[in-house]
This record gives sequence, C-alpha cells and structure tokens, in this order.
Amino acid sequence: MINVCLAGATGWAGSELARGIARTDDVAVVAAVSRTHAGRVLGDVLNEPRLTGGVHASAIEALATPCNVFVEYTKPDTAKRNIVAALERGAHVVVGTSGLVDHDYIEIDAMARSQRRGVLACGNFALTVVPLQKFAGAAARLIPQWEIIDYAHDDKVDAPSGTARELAARLAKIRHPEPTVALDRTVGAREARGATLAGSQVHSLRLPGFVISAEIIFGMPDQKLTIRHDSGSSARPYVDGALLAIRKVATLVGVHRGLDAVLEL
Ligand SMILES: NC(=O)c1ccc[n+]([C@@H]2O[C@H](COP(=O)([O-])OP(=O)(O)OC[C@H]3O[C@@H](n4cnc5c(N)ncnc54)[C@H](OP(=O)(O)O)[C@@H]3O)[C@@H](O)[C@H]2O)c1
Repeated sequence: MINVCLAGATGWAGSELARGIARTDDVAVVAAVSRTHAGRVLGDVLNEPRLTGGVHASAIEALATPCNVFVEYTKPDTAKRNIVAALERGAHVVVGTSGLVDHDYIEIDAMARSQRRGVLACGNFALTVVPLQKFAGAAARLIPQWEIIDYAHDDKVDAPSGTARELAARLAKIRHPEPTVALDRTVGAREARGATLAGSQVHSLRLPGFVISAEIIFGMPDQKLTIRHDSGSSARPYVDGALLAIRKVATLVGVHRGLDAVLEL
C-alpha cells in the first residue's frame, strides 16, 4: 500500500485525485491538507466514505502522519515550503501545482538528492500531454523557430502555465529558437513578443471561457506546424497521470519533470 499525504485534497484538481485514489486498492490518502476543512475526515468533506484520512490546516501538521508520497496540489505560494517539509520527513514528492520556477527546482533537486528521494513534477498530468511534449521535441530538432501559447481561465493566478514552462525547459535541452528579429531589436512594446522562458517566447492568455490549452507553433519559410493540447472542463484528465506518478516516484532520485520520466515510450 502506498500511503499518500494529499495537500490541496479539497480543491478542483486535488478532490478529483482523492476520489481516484479511493477507487484504487494500492494507494490510500492517510492525511490531507486544506485550511477550510481542517479537523474533518476527508471522506465527509468529499462524500466518499473510502477516504478515511484526516484533514489538516497545513502540510507540516499533515506530515505528522507517516506517508510514502506527498502530493502537492495547492497554490504556488505554499508549494515549495510544503515540498521541502515533505522531503525533510523522508517522503517522495509528486508536484502538480504550477508556478514553481526553474530556480526552485534546482534547490529542490539538491535537497531531494541529499535525502535520496524522488520528486516528480508534472505541469500537466493529462496522459495526452506526453505526446505533445515528445512531438514538440522531435519538431524542434528539425525546425529552428517556434513560439508557445498557453490559454487558461481568467482566474488562473500563475503565468505561464506549468505545461508551457515544462515545454520550454524541455526544448531548451534540444536547442534555443533563433528569431529572425532579435527581441532587443523589437520596434514598439517589447512585451508584445511575450516572456522569454528557457529561450522560448511564451504568450499567456487568461480569459473567461477558456479551460487549459497549450499550443506550440513551429515556423519555417512558407510552412508551419501547430501542435496543441486541450483539456476539457473537468479535472478527470489529470487523475490517471497523477496516480501513475504516485506509483512510480519512489523509483526516482532527485527532481524529474514530466510524466515521461516514468513512462516507457
Ligand atoms: N499538474 C496538473 O495536471 C494540474 C492540473 C490542474 C491544476 N493544476 C495546478 O494545481 C494547483 C491547484 O489547482 P486547483 O484548481 O485544484 O486549485 P483550487 O481548487 O483552488 O484548490 C487548491 C487547494 O489547495 C488548498 N490550499 C490552498 N492554499 C493553501 C494553503 N496556504 N494551505 C493549505 N491548503 C491550501 C485549498 O484548500 P483551502 O483553501 O481550504 O486551504 C484547496 O484544497 C494550481 O497550481 C493549478 O495550476 C495542475
């Protein structure tokens, strides 16, 4: 049995994962984190009697219950603190929360390696994002220019999305795009060219009516290639990937980004 401490268990994504865990027979939520529902049993909050773990106001309190894997699904401002606390207590960590930057992951990686623990961070647990990342990598080997667009609902606080960040970080290992007009030679508002992330230009839309989509456009003279991923309105697409991450993270040491770290493709 893999015992999980689930931070953000009452949220949009975390509650769906908790229900997904309840349907398994090899993973259990032994403790959960939510300030609003602290002191209650998770199953009472989510109307799922198989979830018998208690809800705590902070990760530190929840981690007093021993667990194998800590799942971080809260908000960017608390995520790093929670991850560090979990590693200090000997748990492996699965990170779903977006908004952590490369520098955070460098620090987390050093700590995870010193503790001989795995951290698997996935900006998007949807299984259909894995081919997007793979195909984009193949295209980047061939095509030297691309830009990334990330679309999300208006109340998403962080930008760019975890998916876009992860994509840019991956492509940087292959090459950096070579814009025809260097950004510092932009005539007009430099911001109109988007943010530069690991060498890629990334543009984030935040509007009502959108859920979560990621798009990468490769361009060559007189031809272009668009690869796009769209999630629907439920958090269901993220459950299977997160469960896979929970089951496999103990095979890793240090920070790994993207679900393909534990998928044989
Ligand atoms: N990787 C993926 O596939 C994926 C998929 C969906 C979402 N996400 C990311 O996951 C994160 C959560 O998204 P969401 O839509 O589920 O958010 P949400 O609905 O607002 O849920 C956030 C959860 O975290 C808890 N929380 C927030 N701040 C906290 C704090 N300071 N201390 C303790 N608990 C806290 C909330 O409970 P209380 O308010 O009661 O404390 C709630 O349970 C975001 O960063 C989002 O971008 C990632």
